[in-house]
Amino acid sequence: MYMEKQPKVVLRNGVGMPLLGFGTYQLQGPETSEAVLRALEQGYRLIDTAAMYQNEEDVGRAVRESGLKREEVFVTSKVWNSDLGYESTRKAFDSTIKRLGLDYLDLYLIHWPCKPHYIESWQALEYLYEKQLIRAIGVSNFLIHHLESIHSECAVKPMVNQFEFHPFLQQSELVDFCKTHKIQVQAWGPLTRGQHLGHPLLIELGQEYKKSPAQIILRWNIQKGISAIPKSASKERIAENFNVFDFELSLEDIKKIDCLNQNYRLGPHPDNINF
Ligand SMILES: NC(=O)c1ccc[n+]([C@@H]2O[C@H](COP(=O)([O-])OP(=O)(O)OC[C@H]3O[C@@H](n4cnc5c(N)ncnc54)[C@H](OP(=O)(O)O)[C@@H]3O)[C@@H](O)[C@H]2O)c1
Repeated sequence: MYMEKQPKVVLRNGVGMPLLGFGTYQLQGPETSEAVLRALEQGYRLIDTAAMYQNEEDVGRAVRESGLKREEVFVTSKVWNSDLGYESTRKAFDSTIKRLGLDYLDLYLIHWPCKPHYIESWQALEYLYEKQLIRAIGVSNFLIHHLESIHSECAVKPMVNQFEFHPFLQQSELVDFCKTHKIQVQAWGPLTRGQHLGHPLLIELGQEYKKSPAQIILRWNIQKGISAIPKSASKERIAENFNVFDFELSLEDIKKIDCLNQNYRLGPHPDNINF
């Protein structure tokens, strides 16, 4: 069911972005197009892909075949680590746009802060942004010191930082830094890839609100103003994860979830990547 009133955030440059989006990591081939079409039917209006996911063609096909106007769907992609550098990032963007079959991207992110070339990649993103080929530019998995280096060396500040964020990894200093600098936080792995959905507090709150643990987490994100991009290949779970706009967590329950942080990472530490 399409819900008119899904919340949007306004990025620093005035571009509106839905708070809840659809992730596509590990979706491959026709399964990708089917899942993205289902998500769009359900009402999702933000689709997150990346060159590294090798599914941009299928994502683009679903967006084009959805019957929605291009401007109704917010499409994000990311430049992969092997394409960092000024010229390589510009080439990678051209390939991404071609694979997606779209004229522009809504958001383009540097996937990981790989040294030494992420600053040059950022300058390529600035160029593409000035050429109006991307509506907003951002980064992913950047820590405070990476953001500070962009702030000191570049003209345009990132509008979004997408990083691992869920009740068990809350990175509050990074979130506070992003808030201070008007960088919208977007959570990847919001559902802990299913690993912690059986936590007793999430089950208890689920029973109280008549919602699933996944819905409790996504609602917690939304009420914190943090964008989330849950992935699912299942029709039921795609619907479940979008059905979070008809209830509200109390402040007390939000604080209870805030206490679940364990600095538990699903993915690598961004200062320690070897891929
Ligand atoms: N920037 C980055 O470095 C980065 C890294 C990782 C991910 N991402 C992006 O963030 C998106 C989300 O992260 P993620 O895919 O890693 O993890 P996630 O969304 O936290 O979890 C996805 C997993 O949870 C399961 N799931 C989904 N909904 C569920 C529900 N309601 N109840 C129980 N299980 C459920 C899915 O299985 P089914 O498919 O079987 O439902 C899938 O195995 C990715 O798809 C990708 O777009 C970005």
